[in-house]
Amino acid sequence: MADTNKTATLSFDNKRIELPIYAGTAGPDVIDIRKLYAEGGVFTYDPGFTSTASCDSTITFIDGEEGVLLHRGYPIDQLAGKSHYLEVCYLLLYGDLPTAEQLEDFESRVTQHTMLHEQMQYFFRGFRRDAHPMAVMVGVVGAMSAFYHDSTDINDPWQREVASIRLIAKMPTIAAWAYKYSIGQPFVYPRNDLDYASNFLRMCFAVPAEEYEVNPILSRAMDRIFTLHADHEQNASTSTVRLASSSGANPFACIAAGIACLWGPAHGGANQACLEMLREIGTPDRIPEFIARAKDKNDPFRLMGFGHRVYKNFDPRATVMKQSADEVLDLLGIENNPTLQVAKELEKQALEDPYFADKKLFPNVDFYSGIILDAMGLPTSMFTPIFAIARTVGWISQWKEQLSDPQLKIGRPRQLYHGETTRDYIDVENR
Ligand code: SDX
Repeated sequence: MADTNKTATLSFDNKRIELPIYAGTAGPDVIDIRKLYAEGGVFTYDPGFTSTASCDSTITFIDGEEGVLLHRGYPIDQLAGKSHYLEVCYLLLYGDLPTAEQLEDFESRVTQHTMLHEQMQYFFRGFRRDAHPMAVMVGVVGAMSAFYHDSTDINDPWQREVASIRLIAKMPTIAAWAYKYSIGQPFVYPRNDLDYASNFLRMCFAVPAEEYEVNPILSRAMDRIFTLHADHEQNASTSTVRLASSSGANPFACIAAGIACLWGPAHGGANQACLEMLREIGTPDRIPEFIARAKDKNDPFRLMGFGHRVYKNFDPRATVMKQSADEVLDLLGIENNPTLQVAKELEKQALEDPYFADKKLFPNVDFYSGIILDAMGLPTSMFTPIFAIARTVGWISQWKEQLSDPQLKIGRPRQLYHGETTRDYIDVENR
């Protein structure tokens, strides 16, 4: 963070407060308001944090106006096209692309941690078979702090590293087992001879009764989906992880909190909601009806997969995802997928509508991802767990960065109070 030698002057109630302005390497400058309450006796007010920088970070940069997403400076379209998920994990965790030797060591360490403690199977069996897999993931990941005590001390760098690897490695196993449990099939153990995405697909779709060969088209598409969802600056679930971690909570508890937040349909749950919306629309002729509902202030319906707090242009991930949807469906020989046709026509009509154009509402990462996952044979209930698998490295990277921040303090926002002022208790007989 560079001091700009500029200040913002705040004048009110005969007070004049000079607030320092800092600049990053990219993006808007920030006004440091930390002394405002002490010197001015007032709070700032920013519900939803639309104008608030919560931290310093060097991991991911987003330019919402230009539709730019960089991970440690590398554009997302280049990473999606040239890299693969575990290499992007290394980049996010350690700050630069690995050498071949570093990558081999990292992938080997992840591979060695993909199995779950055998006792955890019984934890899964405590759920109803029809439990949403996100409920299972929140519970099982939180329960990891009861199984992996040797990697819960956040003050021990070695334990932080082991917890990071364990979480990245075990999330696909947890998600796949949540799926298997929901369909009454036996758990499938990970294999050390498969890459990350192939292992996940095999744990989802293999059965003991026969051999399962992973389709390389699907594993490449799944790996790209993981890469496109890996990290995204200070989004709601990442901010949840940072806030949970600021109290000193263990990494498994913090990631479980992030999973819970991601589940919401305004956030990671949008991929499930979007595909269900596209199915409800069904045919292109019903699109105008749904666009009208999305524009109706009296109707809570929103176009799922559209709009974004930061992107006021195309979400660059959606652009890559749309290309991938075309490729995967074509390679799978799924011609004229009706859901994809509806999605493309909906995007066209929405972007031609002044309501969406004026509010700068564009397709986001969730608009096309569900079409690919659906084509792979995954139920919509597994869409957000897949987002959670991918985002675990982002949560962990941001968690590690915060723990090494010398400015780390417990997160504790204040409020604008509108409630009753002091009043005396009234005995029940006098009420
Ligand atoms: C993700 O933050 C991240 O980085 C998240 C994420 C990540 O990688 O971590 O990118 C992943 O969560 C993507 C977003 C997935 N959510 C959806 O697709 C759900 C549908 N989208 C919306 O609910 C909404 O666009 C949000 C939640 C994504 C953003 O909401 P904001 O920034 O708070 O914007 P807003 O709700 O204030 O909307 C601004 C205006 C409003 O109209 P007015 O009150 O100004 O008249 O735009 C309208 C909204 O009603 N609007 C929509 C709309 N999204 C916003 N109208 C119809 N359909 C929509 N989808």
